[in-house]
Amino acid sequence: MNWDDTPTDTAAGTEAGERLVDAGAAGEDQAIEAALRPKNLGEFVGQERVREQLDLVLRAARQRGATADHVLLSGAPGLGKTTLSMIIAAEMGAPIRITSGPAIQHAGDLAAILSSLAEGEVLFLDEIHRMSRPAEEMLYMAMEDFRVDVVVGKGPGATAIPLELPPFTLVGATTRAGLLPPPLRDRFGFTGHMDFYEPAELERVLHRSAQLLDVEIEPDGAAEIAGRSRGTPRIANRLLRRVRDYAQVKADGVITRSIAETALGVYEVDGRGLDRLDRAVLGALLKLFGGGPVGLSTLSVAVGEERETVEEVAEPFLVREGLLARTPRGRVATPAAWEHLGLRPPQNAGGSGGQQGLFGV
Ligand SMILES: Nc1ncnc2c1ncn2[C@@H]1O[C@H](COP(=O)(O)OP(=O)(O)OP(=O)(O)O)[C@@H](O)[C@H]1O
Ligand SMILES: [Mg+2]
Repeated sequence: MNWDDTPTDTAAGTEAGERLVDAGAAGEDQAIEAALRPKNLGEFVGQERVREQLDLVLRAARQRGATADHVLLSGAPGLGKTTLSMIIAAEMGAPIRITSGPAIQHAGDLAAILSSLAEGEVLFLDEIHRMSRPAEEMLYMAMEDFRVDVVVGKGPGATAIPLELPPFTLVGATTRAGLLPPPLRDRFGFTGHMDFYEPAELERVLHRSAQLLDVEIEPDGAAEIAGRSRGTPRIANRLLRRVRDYAQVKADGVITRSIAETALGVYEVDGRGLDRLDRAVLGALLKLFGGGPVGLSTLSVAVGEERETVEEVAEPFLVREGLLARTPRGRVATPAAWEHLGLRPPQNAGGSGGQQGLFGV
């Protein structure tokens, strides 16, 4: 009901929505994602541990005829938190109410939602780390005692009227579990941490999605796309759609390895999932600064991007891939970075001498 709360609210400050390998959901994604979302735990690929634990939590609650414990899901964008919250509701045969931290600015917003929940309903609170402090405090009591205090009136005459809530299951999602205050974190009966997916798991996601999109994909084609998807199902599904376009326009529609390779080459997503920006940052670090160390500002100027873009958009994946290291003296390329860009590191005369000679020809 709070549609007007969301539009102005951009997530991390950087506008990276146009990148094919961005893990966030851009316009086109949202519609298609609904169609590709697994509907039950059995269809949900990977995350074995979280799935098994969650399966026990839900099964036990069902056996007891009780409402499931509150669940916190944490993990990077595009790994399946929203999907899993919907699965929780489906597995419990319960309706789901969806809202997000930024949409709840006042405790009153939360009180309105909580007091209208049906018994057993799942309340999905996305980006729970971005809720306002007063709302957060109201949530503590609601989660623990299924009660809220509704304040009526203002000033000295204000009175708090306690309101009983029906038992409900809160499913909180966050990309930043570290930002949650411990009292909130402690009130969840189960916390599932989602990791990046293995290539083999992404291949399964791709085969499943291809079937739903009615596209023919060969195992090699799926492997090729999976390897470039940065461990993220959302990116895998997005790359799949672009490769499908290419296969349809330039070939017979079947996604083979070579079609996937060529198509993703056209979109400048390389064999490891780096895009143009990632390669520009890495390329500058290697070619202009001999592999570093070089300061973030200098590196950003060299690639003609904002500091924040380099730091928040490009670097996290480069660090995760072991291509770049952030050190107190600046950014440093790893041997894998030289190899990935097909360049040879400068020979330093001293052998193991670390940094000296880096700028030599
Ligand atoms: N385990 C999975 N199996 C199959 N598909 C998946 C899985 N996880 C995610 N997906 C697909 O990836 C897409 C993105 O997942 P989802 O929206 O749940 O991510 P999220 O963690 O909520 O991301 P955000 O942090 O941006 O909200 C979904 O549309 C779904 O199709
Ligand atoms: Mg989500």
